[in-house]
Amino acid sequence: MGKRTFLAAAVTTGLAAWALLRTPPGRFKWRPRDATAPQTALITGASAGIGAEFARQLAARGFDLVLVARRTERLTELATTLTATFQVNCEVLAADLAHEAGVASVEARIRELDTLAVLVNNAGFGTLGRFVNADPTRQQEMVYLHTMAPMRLTQAALPGMTARRYGAIINVASVAAYVRLRGNVNYTATKAYLTAFSEVLQAELRGAGVCVQALCPGFTRTEFHYTPDFKDHKPLPYPDFMWMSAAEVVRQSLDALGNGQVAFVPGVLYRALVLMLRTPVLGDNAMRLASLFL
Ligand SMILES: NC(=O)c1ccc[n+]([C@@H]2O[C@H](COP(=O)([O-])OP(=O)(O)OC[C@H]3O[C@@H](n4cnc5c(N)ncnc54)[C@H](OP(=O)(O)O)[C@@H]3O)[C@@H](O)[C@H]2O)c1
Repeated sequence: MGKRTFLAAAVTTGLAAWALLRTPPGRFKWRPRDATAPQTALITGASAGIGAEFARQLAARGFDLVLVARRTERLTELATTLTATFQVNCEVLAADLAHEAGVASVEARIRELDTLAVLVNNAGFGTLGRFVNADPTRQQEMVYLHTMAPMRLTQAALPGMTARRYGAIINVASVAAYVRLRGNVNYTATKAYLTAFSEVLQAELRGAGVCVQALCPGFTRTEFHYTPDFKDHKPLPYPDFMWMSAAEVVRQSLDALGNGQVAFVPGVLYRALVLMLRTPVLGDNAMRLASLFL
């Protein structure tokens, strides 16, 4: 190969990689920081990890907050800190979103909130082990928490958002939505639901002033891998560069909102991985190879 051909091939490959892996800037019109009219963000799973970080970054953008999870003492502590730091109003709403009563109570609160601008459906958990041996109750709770709860809260939020022609709905899915590895049956299936749900919903909402995002993080340093569901779990052998901080995941999510990538993958490493997994033949073969080791 001549020097020129090599150079042309290298430049073309570089440009193609850039075009495929870049994150265009988001077009969602964030409230100006000095706006006086109150706007509210409701975040599920705000007592830890990614949800608590959404609360921090949205409070820093001037949003009043409704913080939802089961551990109220954690939510109250976070609410006190954010109110003191950013002078925003924070409401704590205790709810178990893996069950009907909890979902119904948050749904009711959403319907009466006439300032709701951002809904973050983030609450979630993982389990370990093969589906055949899994605790059926816990699996049912996962399906409810990852699919029914976001679907119902979104449906409750939409009439107000579309009437005001302003709003954002962020459904926290996962890179797992694209991974087909054993031990992850319902986690993968429910996160794939969230991704498809968000993509089709955004298509329906074109021109309505409401942005939808399915946030698909890879490994993120939170409490996720330290819940009771992971009690028999050995520390993950994955190297440092595969982990992102919750702060970085949330920053990228908020910056990318409305940029045309409804299923948004933070981090160039995970964007490249998802691109490979979605490529016919290549993705299937990569999964086959990985399943020999995992
Ligand atoms: N960490 C990762 O590597 C990673 C990667 C990809 C995607 N994700 C996704 O990111 C989201 C947040 O996870 P995280 O990493 O931040 O984990 P985390 O630190 O364990 O936080 C999980 C949050 O979900 C809440 N939650 C769990 N079960 C709930 C229930 N039944 N009802 C209401 N709230 C419930 C927890 O609050 P309470 O216990 O107080 O109820 C907590 O606030 C999840 O949807 C997860 O699937 C995580």
